[in-house]
Amino acid sequence: MFEKLKPEVSKIIAQKEDSVEERLLKVCQLLNATIDYYDWVGFYFKNGDKPELKLGPYVGEPTDHTIIPFGKGICGQVAVSNENFVVPDVQAQDNYIACSLTVKSEIVIPLFVNGENVGQIDIDSNTPDPFTEADERFLEFVNGKVAEIIA
Ligand code: SME
Repeated sequence: MFEKLKPEVSKIIAQKEDSVEERLLKVCQLLNATIDYYDWVGFYFKNGDKPELKLGPYVGEPTDHTIIPFGKGICGQVAVSNENFVVPDVQAQDNYIACSLTVKSEIVIPLFVNGENVGQIDIDSNTPDPFTEADERFLEFVNGKVAEIIA
């Protein structure tokens, strides 16, 4: 499934007549529509020089958490750790920001531009423990493509 999706992601990213925002939204829509356990798909980016993340394009239920301070929640922790964070059971996490009561699990993969952690892709799932290393490798690929157009 992921191998088939990669060229589709690349095609969206290469669509220069769409704005960067539109392309990121289309990537979110593709992932949400194709992968049944990707229930909320969105990007967060570092908010200028502030130690916080700002919500970018996303698909899924609207969230109140449009700004997340570094260190807070799964997303804020990834902003400082620079490492993938796979959460099989969100209820088992003490530093977690709940967006919706239906969410069971989450994966956050940092997005690097020239080695700098500038944001992340965040996926929420209503399925318990669905994410494998294949998701990590695929989402690293997606972020690598996104890095090409936000640099
Ligand atoms: N659950 C995230 C907050 C963002 S929402 O999932 C969209 C967190 O703990 O950082």
